[in-house]
Amino acid sequence: MTKRIGLLTSGGDCAGLNAAIRAVTHHAIKNYGWKIFGIRKGTTGLLTRPLEYKELTVEFCDHSVLRSGGTLLGSTNRDDPFIFPNADGTKSNRSQEIINGYHELGLDALIGIGGDGSLRILHQLAEQGDLNLVFIPKTIDNDVSNTEVAIGYSTALDIATEALDRLQPTAASHQRIMISEVMGRDAGHIALESGIAGGADIILVPEIPYKLSSIYQTINSIRETGRDFALVVVAESVKKEDGEVSSIQNANGLPRYSGIGHYIAEKIHEATGMETRVNVVGHVQRGGQPNARDRALATAFGVAAVDLVAQNKMGRMVSWQNCQVVDVAISDVVQYNQEVDPNGTMARTAESMGIYVGELPEKK
Ligand code: F6P
Repeated sequence: MTKRIGLLTSGGDCAGLNAAIRAVTHHAIKNYGWKIFGIRKGTTGLLTRPLEYKELTVEFCDHSVLRSGGTLLGSTNRDDPFIFPNADGTKSNRSQEIINGYHELGLDALIGIGGDGSLRILHQLAEQGDLNLVFIPKTIDNDVSNTEVAIGYSTALDIATEALDRLQPTAASHQRIMISEVMGRDAGHIALESGIAGGADIILVPEIPYKLSSIYQTINSIRETGRDFALVVVAESVKKEDGEVSSIQNANGLPRYSGIGHYIAEKIHEATGMETRVNVVGHVQRGGQPNARDRALATAFGVAAVDLVAQNKMGRMVSWQNCQVVDVAISDVVQYNQEVDPNGTMARTAESMGIYVGELPEKK
């Protein structure tokens, strides 16, 4: 029987989303003869009336789609349907309208591509409406649990590392301390791995507490060796030493991490007298072409998600573990987020390389 599958991207965009959309479309149409409906702007396309969607074809998802950034379907990382913001400032639960939209479109299953926030919302919708949900993890933050990696992380890591490659020569030329503030929301994976790959001297992540005095000490020790520049990577959600978060308010009134790089820069300048500059890598970590790794991962995830629907394995997320795609229960994934382990390989590798990564626990 021809199945009707909904496909949506939700949450912050990242590189590789279109490769996943292409893989789902090609595999479902060419190998199963199903119909794929691309839903616009995350769950918004199922909330609005008329419904906003486009039937996807193999021709539409051509070669250029494989290498393109962003998402062809559009996305949203706000407007939680369970606490949907109304124009008058009040909030309402509009979840049932999305569930109705799924049925109005006559869907047999929904494949959602998203991060931790989108997964929680879609899981809740699926439970409430008894919807057939299969999930593909994507996030530059790499904080979705039960998978070693999600679509978009590898490309974001390359960009954050390239920023350090470009900052190092200018830091050296001008005898400066360069601070690179990277994304990652509440996880420090991009900061830690790009810092190691880009030869940082100091890496600050939200999972490991730090002392400003240790940062100053690290910089002074570097100067004693005759080097008069240094590279610092700081994850956007690292707190100030007093425990306060550095954030600004979005136009919609919601807080957004911002400013920790400037805080660290000012403190370093005050304490060491060194000239500092801050580079906020920002959304370039999300945009642009996916690297080869993300294209291949997205394609493997897309194919596996379609196969899960074919096997009627609902409530599952495709996951990368030990060099292969497996599937895990969404109900397990939503239990926790994947954080940097202060005792993990990457944190201890940084320590062994003489990088200050904060006050690590005693080695077990
Ligand atoms: O979750 C992805 C992410 O890029 C985070 O790393 C970052 O904190 C956030 O989204 C930025 O969101 P926005 O696009 O709303 O500025």
